[in-house]
Amino acid sequence: MKHLIRTILLVAAICLAGKIIAAEPIVLHSPNGKLQMTFSLSEKGEPTYILQYKGKTVIRPSHLGLELKNAHNLQQDFVIKKTTASSFDETWQPVWGETRNIRNHYNEMFVELYQQSQERGLNIRFRLYDDGLGFRYEFPLSKNLNYFVIKEEHSQFAMSGDNTAWWIPGDYDTQEYNYTESKLSEIRQKLPTAYDNNASQTLAGPTCVQTSLQMKTPDGIYINLHEAALVDYSCMHLNLDDKNMIFESFLTPDARGDKGYLQAPCKSPWRTIIVSDDARDMLSSNLILNLNDPCKLKDTSWIHPVKYAGVWWEMINGMSQWSYTWDLPSVKLDSIDYTKVKTHGKHGANNANVRKYIDFAAENGLDQVLVEGWNIGWEDWFGQEKDYVFDFTTPYPDFDIKALNEYAHSKGVKLLMHHETSGSVRNYERHMEAAYNLMNKYGYDAVKSGYVGNILPRGEHHYGQWMVNHYLYAVQEAAKHHIMVNAHEAVRPTGLCRTYPNLIGNEAARGTEYEAGASNHVNHTTILPFTRLQGGPMDYTPGIFEMDMSKMNPNNHAHVNSTLARQLALYVTMYSPLQMAADLVENYRKHMDAFQFIKDVAVDWDDSRYLEAEPGQYITVARKAKNSANWFVGCTTGENGHTSHLKLNFLDKGKKYIATIYADAKNANYRTNPQAYVISKKTVNSNTVLKLKAVPGGGYAISIKPAN
Ligand code: NOJ
Ligand code: CA
Repeated sequence: MKHLIRTILLVAAICLAGKIIAAEPIVLHSPNGKLQMTFSLSEKGEPTYILQYKGKTVIRPSHLGLELKNAHNLQQDFVIKKTTASSFDETWQPVWGETRNIRNHYNEMFVELYQQSQERGLNIRFRLYDDGLGFRYEFPLSKNLNYFVIKEEHSQFAMSGDNTAWWIPGDYDTQEYNYTESKLSEIRQKLPTAYDNNASQTLAGPTCVQTSLQMKTPDGIYINLHEAALVDYSCMHLNLDDKNMIFESFLTPDARGDKGYLQAPCKSPWRTIIVSDDARDMLSSNLILNLNDPCKLKDTSWIHPVKYAGVWWEMINGMSQWSYTWDLPSVKLDSIDYTKVKTHGKHGANNANVRKYIDFAAENGLDQVLVEGWNIGWEDWFGQEKDYVFDFTTPYPDFDIKALNEYAHSKGVKLLMHHETSGSVRNYERHMEAAYNLMNKYGYDAVKSGYVGNILPRGEHHYGQWMVNHYLYAVQEAAKHHIMVNAHEAVRPTGLCRTYPNLIGNEAARGTEYEAGASNHVNHTTILPFTRLQGGPMDYTPGIFEMDMSKMNPNNHAHVNSTLARQLALYVTMYSPLQMAADLVENYRKHMDAFQFIKDVAVDWDDSRYLEAEPGQYITVARKAKNSANWFVGCTTGENGHTSHLKLNFLDKGKKYIATIYADAKNANYRTNPQAYVISKKTVNSNTVLKLKAVPGGGYAISIKPAN
């Protein structure tokens, strides 16, 4: 409060003075006073901000503004018309989440700027939290600012030095990359080898990286750059001026190369900077959710977390197929009678196989079964940039949609729908209503959608404004049908799940699927919570028990870079209300003692405690299951392994609990002996300290339940 009053007085002084060109700096403090943001105008009238943490500069003077197409830029020549300071503090309850309550507490400065030569306004709203800063542009309607086209947004983030960064290449179409850890000064040199091939990719530039970007300064301050509430705007990448260590926003272009068509009044997404000297605070931050609008759905009673199995991994590793036949060199959906076509006999989504997964789900308390390849059109779904690729409503002859759903429902299980669009988005929108109606008819309430390949309309990118609008449209339309959405290959999440909690999952990063081919770096899951997960949960699809793909497909020599114990830990470290048990039923049946953890682990939480964290090295998390006294702990490690001395002081004092520990065996090794695990039981209480060792590429998982 003291800080806020100081700020208000300063602002009042500036306003009294009327229009000021090189105004006195305006200072905003976070509620706890550790962060300080200073706003000023340069001599040229450029909006400029600085961010300091505990007295140290983390963002040097950085300019803000936008370059417009065929119009005067919104970058300089501004005066301050008015500033308004305010403060906000509320606690809200997410429909699902890492904690039951989320505190949204910030001090705000709303700066109204006026561009004298153009006679129009531009406003910037700053919100300073204890864990970071958010700012956004607001474009008020005036006769000189109504319709406008963005050539580029020039929001700068000037770093204080040559930070270490965990980054993936800037790309307009995919985020399915391994992370590179390097100094900022090394990005240019390392970028050409930091990527591998994807079905659709368009590199953004030689020093361009994606958000969320995690960094660490040489003196140990963690900084994360991302965006919040990406709506009707194109997704932001970060372009590095590596001589001066200045990042600048770099928006995804549309098919014409333009970067956004806007109509005032309107707003940009928030640009976010999370800051702390404790890595664990990066993971517990709710800044991005807080910057999003509250839930817009009136009734959320139909939204629920989902644990699911699937007819999936067997297609990913090549053991079976999405398609039905080899006999069709091309498919025109309307003219093929699949009942007259000879099947290759490898179609995964067949009645018997789906029943097997339903039985396993029912036996083990899993909620749903995903079935991919159930609908006609998979013979040439990919690589043709084909328009009318799927109809999302017609099953293959060996998938009895009615009978299978009835069978599942009779056992308390639901099927989980799959809509692969193959990037043909016009076609998806054409069929969306019928596709969602079909789901309603047969009792599906969740869909996994996908956007593999180049986007149609041709020339659009996965992360451009047009697609950003499509993804949200799909979620909003789904909500009308009480359908939850898990979109793969869509734009990276920016906290919109607060506003639309039926968006229960996204991929938007390199998931487990790569482990069946090119593999993921051993430290991948020690980085994702710092980066990709900042914007929302990921459908990472953990739970692989058989690491050697040749056991299922002799032609596949890939190997999952993980121990089995680490696969269990991921259910806790990779927060998501949607969790898959991704492996084959046959592989689980060989290790039902370990599968017990997947059966038990919760997917919705009252509380989460980040106990240990260092990007690229290890993450240890404890979470308390929602409406339950049970806790679950997970630890995942990179190349160096990790030993924890785990204090269980989060447990209720004076209570006895039984801990079941699923740990790497002494001789476990993620390459040569990944299935070596040890399960032990211990009586524990809030004074217990557990010494636990995770091998390189390993981890441990613990379930802790009250004794008796
Ligand atoms: C890519 C998705 O990430 C994967 O999960 C899915 O199986 C394939 N596309 C096919 O839709
Ligand atoms: Ca994917």
